[in-house]
Amino acid sequence: MSSVNGYVRNAWYVASWAQDLTPEKTFAITILGEPIVIWRTAGGTLYALEDRCVHRLAPLSLGRCEGERLRCMYHGLLFDPDGVVAEIPGQEIIPANARVRHYAVIERHSWVWVWMGDAALADPVLVPPAVGYDDPDYILGHGQLDYAAEARLINDNLLDFSHLSYVHANSFGAGPQFAQTQPTIIPLERGVRVQRWIANTYGASNRKSDVPVDSWQSYDFLVPGILLMWSGNYPAGTAQALNHAPPERDAAIAGLNFTSQAVTPLTDRTSRYFFSWGPHRRHGDEAIRDGMMQLAGVAFGEDKVMIEAQQRVIDMTPDPRIMPTSHDRGVTLFNRLVQKLARADGDGAPVAIRSGSDARDRQAAAAS
Ligand code: FES
Ligand SMILES: [Fe+2]
Repeated sequence: MSSVNGYVRNAWYVASWAQDLTPEKTFAITILGEPIVIWRTAGGTLYALEDRCVHRLAPLSLGRCEGERLRCMYHGLLFDPDGVVAEIPGQEIIPANARVRHYAVIERHSWVWVWMGDAALADPVLVPPAVGYDDPDYILGHGQLDYAAEARLINDNLLDFSHLSYVHANSFGAGPQFAQTQPTIIPLERGVRVQRWIANTYGASNRKSDVPVDSWQSYDFLVPGILLMWSGNYPAGTAQALNHAPPERDAAIAGLNFTSQAVTPLTDRTSRYFFSWGPHRRHGDEAIRDGMMQLAGVAFGEDKVMIEAQQRVIDMTPDPRIMPTSHDRGVTLFNRLVQKLARADGDGAPVAIRSGSDARDRQAAAAS
């Protein structure tokens, strides 16, 4: 079983960009502390197995694809895609326990997703509706970044954009509004929705406008750690005219763009962050996309510096506690949802860092 607790298991985790899986080549990744090998057959079918041979624990990712099967290239055991050993060279009888775990795996929206819970429960309907780089409406660039930090800290960062005013003041040119005003937070069945207008701005977080506009931003942050955001500029006065309700996406006059982001816990102290970003085809071109990706590279590097440093401090702190502020509403809602779903999965572990008030709640509950 995994050594990484406190995450939802019955969820789809991004393992790779679709284009990074070459037919008949193995791909190795660790998710939630579990080594996994993924491969695509010549016919295009995806399979995922525990990356640990049942014989002597050699990684199957050093193995060879043989049609629908995968051969361990240490002593030659041959595995069916469901993880059952089909052949042991030089031995007629195959023991009943000669198998490794198999995972449900699916390709959607330019990502390869692995279901970390019981494969029998894997439901394609639960794949978050990301926008892939093959979507004809958007011109998207994409990238990824490895973190020496636990995924939870990156999720927390993405759920609280007040940090834009400080961490990204230069790169994104984010004004003080992100820290001084509160977004609207709406609980969703498997996440939270975060929405805000920034009125009368020359561009709140990326592309600048020549005239003041009202800038709208809306994202869903979904289990296990998927951010899906669109933003766009509207004529100044729109926010007020709509009484700060959401606008029509198609009515954006400029700067309509979309970003899909995924945070995948590799181990309890390492994560992989996948992101795409770019303009709607009617609002930009490849050059604008390239500029946005350059900006993203700088800005996401700023997050990485802060979060990895935060992790180092947390790790040298005995019994680390946090003190939530009003900007943590989204963070708290999401982390409670994760705890609830993780418990339903049979993972009762609490999140690693408790807030002072949560700890007090627990003490009060224990005392009563
Ligand atoms: S370790 Fe895989 S066949 Fe021996
Ligand atoms: Fe950030």
